[in-house]
Amino acid sequence: MAPSLRVAALAAAAVFAPFASAQSLTVDNTTIPATADTVAPAAADVDATSSNSTVDLFSSETVQLTGNVIANLTALNLTSVDLFDFDDETTAATGSSSKCRRSTQCKVVPGNILYPISLVWDIFGLLLGPGALIKTVPLASPCYTNWGDQSASECAFLTNNWSNDSYIHADDPTSIMWPLYQGLTCMPTDTPSNKCTLGGFPSYAVSVSNVAQIQLAVNFARNANLRLVVKNTGHDFVGKSSGAGALSIWTHNLKQIQFFSNLKLNGYSGPAFKLGAGVQAFEMYQAADQYGVTVVGGEGKTVGVMGGYILGGGHSPMSSLYGMAADQVLSMEVVLPNGQFVTASSTSNPDLFWALRGGGGSTFGVVTSVTVKAYPKLQVSVSTFNIVSGGNVTADLFWDAMTAYFKYLPVFTDAGTYSYFDIIQIAPGTYYFAMAPFFAPKLSQAQLETLLAPLFADWAALGVPVNALEYFNYDNFYDGWNLHFPLESVGVATLKTASRLFPRANFEPATGNATLFNETVAAIRYVVEQGSTILAFNIAANPAGGYPDNAVNPAWRKTVLHAIQAISWDADADTATVAAACLKLTNDWQARWRATCPEAGAYMSEADILEPNFQQSFYGSDNYARLYAYKQKVDPWGLFYAPTAVGSEDWYITGQVEGIPTQNGQLCHV
Ligand SMILES: Cc1cc2nc3c(=O)[nH]c(=O)nc-3n(C[C@H](O)[C@H](O)[C@H](O)COP(=O)(O)OP(=O)(O)OC[C@H]3O[C@@H](n4cnc5c(N)ncnc54)[C@H](O)[C@@H]3O)c2cc1C
Ligand SMILES: *[C@@H]1O[C@H](CO)[C@@H](O)[C@H](O)[C@H]1NC(C)=O
Ligand SMILES: *[C@@H]1O[C@H](CO)[C@@H](O)[C@H](O)[C@H]1NC(C)=O
Ligand SMILES: *[C@@H]1O[C@H](CO)[C@@H](O)[C@H](O)[C@H]1NC(C)=O
Ligand SMILES: *[C@@H]1O[C@H](CO)[C@@H](O)[C@H](O)[C@H]1NC(C)=O
Ligand SMILES: *[C@@H]1O[C@H](CO)[C@@H](O)[C@H](O)[C@H]1NC(C)=O
Ligand SMILES: *[C@@H]1O[C@H](CO)[C@@H](O)[C@H](O)[C@H]1NC(C)=O
Ligand SMILES: *[C@@H]1O[C@H](CO)[C@@H](O)[C@H](O)[C@H]1NC(C)=O
Ligand SMILES: *[C@@H]1O[C@H](CO)[C@@H](O)[C@H](O)[C@H]1NC(C)=O
Ligand SMILES: *[C@@H]1O[C@H](CO)[C@@H](O)[C@H](O)[C@H]1NC(C)=O
Repeated sequence: MAPSLRVAALAAAAVFAPFASAQSLTVDNTTIPATADTVAPAAADVDATSSNSTVDLFSSETVQLTGNVIANLTALNLTSVDLFDFDDETTAATGSSSKCRRSTQCKVVPGNILYPISLVWDIFGLLLGPGALIKTVPLASPCYTNWGDQSASECAFLTNNWSNDSYIHADDPTSIMWPLYQGLTCMPTDTPSNKCTLGGFPSYAVSVSNVAQIQLAVNFARNANLRLVVKNTGHDFVGKSSGAGALSIWTHNLKQIQFFSNLKLNGYSGPAFKLGAGVQAFEMYQAADQYGVTVVGGEGKTVGVMGGYILGGGHSPMSSLYGMAADQVLSMEVVLPNGQFVTASSTSNPDLFWALRGGGGSTFGVVTSVTVKAYPKLQVSVSTFNIVSGGNVTADLFWDAMTAYFKYLPVFTDAGTYSYFDIIQIAPGTYYFAMAPFFAPKLSQAQLETLLAPLFADWAALGVPVNALEYFNYDNFYDGWNLHFPLESVGVATLKTASRLFPRANFEPATGNATLFNETVAAIRYVVEQGSTILAFNIAANPAGGYPDNAVNPAWRKTVLHAIQAISWDADADTATVAAACLKLTNDWQARWRATCPEAGAYMSEADILEPNFQQSFYGSDNYARLYAYKQKVDPWGLFYAPTAVGSEDWYITGQVEGIPTQNGQLCHV
């Protein structure tokens, strides 16, 4: 799109939509008619310098908070206006700046004397517009008597669908997929007299539909010293989108999708999508299918693609061919910690652009949309199969078969494929390996059969039968993805995960280090024998076509195996038992994996919240230093926080049990 169109669109910007319906607000006996006349944003406030470096804004992005809106509110002598103001030289001069507020103190939570009184929340709600401010209620409250919304049928629905239907968590303003980190204060129960509390869930959430609302929430949280959370879908493995007492920005409804058949932007020329921050994988893939192109997104069906996923790097069934999702970004629109709305691209705020592509969610601002490359339509071949021990297949033979498989990890990613497999102990001494699926973009079925033939020959030579072997071929990505990746289970409170990006060098016994290969296989075998469940991805992120310079963890560029493991405990386990299990996972099972590749790392979005030296592991040491320095510059307030995010080491949460860190406590500066 021509750059001038963006300016035109902004000049014609809709009125500050929430005020379209007549409302009024009475504060200190002054009645203020809240109409478009009093608070319409001025087009002149638009930052025109970024107009060359991105595509047209979405309608949701043209509704912006400006200095003139604030000036009008101020002129009306509305108390507390400074709470919604930007941080800039002007406000600093009037003494309302919060620039220096971040000291050794804690963020305020309900009950603290400095926590905003309800009148202030009412003003905030009115400024946001009808229905946007949500006083949060835990998703499972209908299972309890103490929220006044008890319902046996609702509770039965939640109980039955809690762990197999990630849609219900993504569609809720606060629910998260890994409730352990929320503090398990309101799980579905059949004992309604138990107490359900907010625990680590935020106290208020803003269901945002435009940029102005995000700016108001960011300014309010910064000025009032509130903990700020950004929730998209709640998939993050360490519970990054929860926080006790917080104000949450819920991006789920930013669903716009725009396709460009031939976008010319910042040196790129080709098909592209601009996608709102709330778009989920299934929605993006449906759109790509409709337009006959392929996009780089995750395998998980309900993951939000343009939030934590792409900000954390984002691995994809297409990664071995095209790289990480973050490698596809052409530009992003972002609300910064100071409240300003800017473009991040190679030609606009390039430091921000670098940091946002792999430096993690909830750190540098709130992304409202992302423009990404798309690729031509391609065929996909898929295979599924399994092996199991028992009968003639002894445990040792099973592991010989696994060893044979691991040898091929570099071969398979060199062929551009991505596979998703489990290894579990189904009974003591009995093991199961399921390939579900082996995903081969661009390959015909015959090519996939040829690729897998040497592995099957090795297994035949060992005498290990291949079970349930099937092949499929599709002329497009969507069908292969939709039919073969599962809707994964979530919401489970009886396990904890950790992961490792094992380097290619660990899997080259013939041409590289056979001792290292043997040690790596032994470390994987050890944890499975101990009861660990492995869900792993044979993936590379070092495509033949290269990749841009961005903040993606450098460990991704060397890996051929992203392996997640989990430790579990009984549903009735006491706190000490759970804590001991969590510590065992980190300090024993994971330590054995780390020892095989101490210089490597782990994927921040599917990680261990207790990861030692997370800075090196999730970001790479050099990148971390650069990200941390940039974080101080763009967010000197420490407004954005998430566990293991850049700068999180400067904060702690009160009232923690060692081994089970949760977001159910007050966030305080170290
Ligand atoms: C079932 C399942 C399947 C998965 N599949 C994959 C996969 O195939 N590939 C893969 O790479 N990962 C996968 N993941 C991991 C996934 O990428 C992470 O959970 C990721 O954090 C999800 O991002 P989200 O925005 O949807 O979720 P959230 O948990 O809501 O957000 C994650 C983090 O990003 C921040 N954030 C969200 N939106 C924004 C925004 N607009 N601006 C700034 N910060 C924001 C949040 O504050 C939080 O810190 C999967 C996870 C699960 C549970
Ligand atoms: C508001 O008006 C009422 C009634 O006129 C008066 O009692 C009260 O003191 C006023 N409050 C303020 C803050 O001026
Ligand atoms: C501010 O108020 C004046 C007077 O009501 C109005 O003309 C102007 O459009 C308003 N400006 C903004 C940015 O809302
Ligand atoms: C937009 O790009 C053109 C051509 O590169 C340049 O001349 C112009 O100054 C740019 N405008 C802005 C606002 O950056
Ligand atoms: C706001 O306060 C100033 C100074 O007290 C006063 O002059 C002005 O009339 C007030 N404006 C409104 C809209 O009440
Ligand atoms: C949820 O559970 C109910 C049973 O209570 C079932 O009928 C329904 O299909 C489930 N919904 C989904 C989306 O899985
Ligand atoms: C989840 O499980 C319930 C009952 O156990 C079932 O009715 C429902 O269809 C399942 N939903 C999905 C999405 O698999
Ligand atoms: C197990 O091995 C024995 C001896 O080689 C053989 O006779 C038998 O058929 C094998 N069983 C299976 C299920 O392959
Ligand atoms: C690795 O293990 C295999 C199989 O156990 C063994 O034959 C080989 O000698 C080992 N190699 C090294 C270098 O330890
Ligand atoms: C091979 O790996 C082993 C085990 O990690 C290590 O001790 C050894 O130094 C490595 N050999 C070479 C040649 O790198």
